[in-house]
Amino acid sequence: MRAEFCLGIIGAGQLGRAIAQGLLSSQFIAPEQLWISSRSLRSDNALSLADSQKVHRTIRNQDLIEHCDMVIVAVPPHLSSTLAINAADTDCLIISVMAGVTLAQLQQLSNNRRVVRAMSSPAAEKGLAYSPWFASEAITDTDRLAVRRVFEAIGQTDEVFDEAQIDQFTALIGPVPGFVAYYADCMVQYAVNNGIEAPIAERAVRQLFHASGVLLAESEASPKAHVDAMVDYNGTTAAGLKSMQASPLSASINDGLKAAFDKAREIG
Ligand SMILES: NC(=O)c1ccc[n+]([C@@H]2O[C@H](COP(=O)([O-])OP(=O)(O)OC[C@H]3O[C@@H](n4cnc5c(N)ncnc54)[C@H](OP(=O)(O)O)[C@@H]3O)[C@@H](O)[C@H]2O)c1
Repeated sequence: MRAEFCLGIIGAGQLGRAIAQGLLSSQFIAPEQLWISSRSLRSDNALSLADSQKVHRTIRNQDLIEHCDMVIVAVPPHLSSTLAINAADTDCLIISVMAGVTLAQLQQLSNNRRVVRAMSSPAAEKGLAYSPWFASEAITDTDRLAVRRVFEAIGQTDEVFDEAQIDQFTALIGPVPGFVAYYADCMVQYAVNNGIEAPIAERAVRQLFHASGVLLAESEASPKAHVDAMVDYNGTTAAGLKSMQASPLSASINDGLKAAFDKAREIG
């Protein structure tokens, strides 16, 4: 471990930048402790970060392995073979958030057995990511603590003990904002079809989803307990819920998640 903890992020795209921004905003690290590499250092990527002048930037990924205690790999899966890193005989802990790239592939790419395979999302920028992770056998208790702390700084996290679950989470974490947007759009369309002006319908649905999401996230009751309580109350919500429960909606959601899972496997 260096005198000052340094963290590197390989890939300054949508996810890499969001994680970097989230770690800086939560003050998990100072800009001087952050290293970012990408192929081009294009200004529309890394340069828009706050405090960007102090962040170390390079196009040489191996610089991060040499200068950092931990490196998060966030390049597109099909470009993982272009990483050109060698973490053999280093203390650098490698964490991948690449969809579909297995732990064994990651060990081969980094030439190190001490690796972690994770999933996360651009919500990291606002400290709202959910980042499950699966560790190789070579990971120490100190590594585990470090991984947990990093992911807690950008949201919530769990260690999982079956690598296949990371593929399942790839299908849940990535697509769900799109699924929620689809459901919200269905509601906007319903409102518009029933005479509400589109901008008003959209503002209402955004606020309703925001409030419902926050309330559900902060409540101790499970989603099922919420549904059951509403059905028991037997009001307008119950009427809507009973109609939805009798429809094939649940099966459609299942099919959508399964299709996303199959695609995630295909990417790998
Ligand atoms: N975006 C999401 O919502 C999301 C969610 C979950 C997981 N992920 C995973 O996160 C990874 C990145 O996704 P993204 O959406 O952030 O991709 P992206 O926006 O396309 O950005 C990719 C970044 O990787 C850099 N890069 C590519 N090859 C590189 C190499 N050999 N060395 C260094 N940098 C390299 C690119 O640099 P240049 O621009 O300079 O070429 C770019 O900065 C993927 O594996 C994806 O599966 C993404």
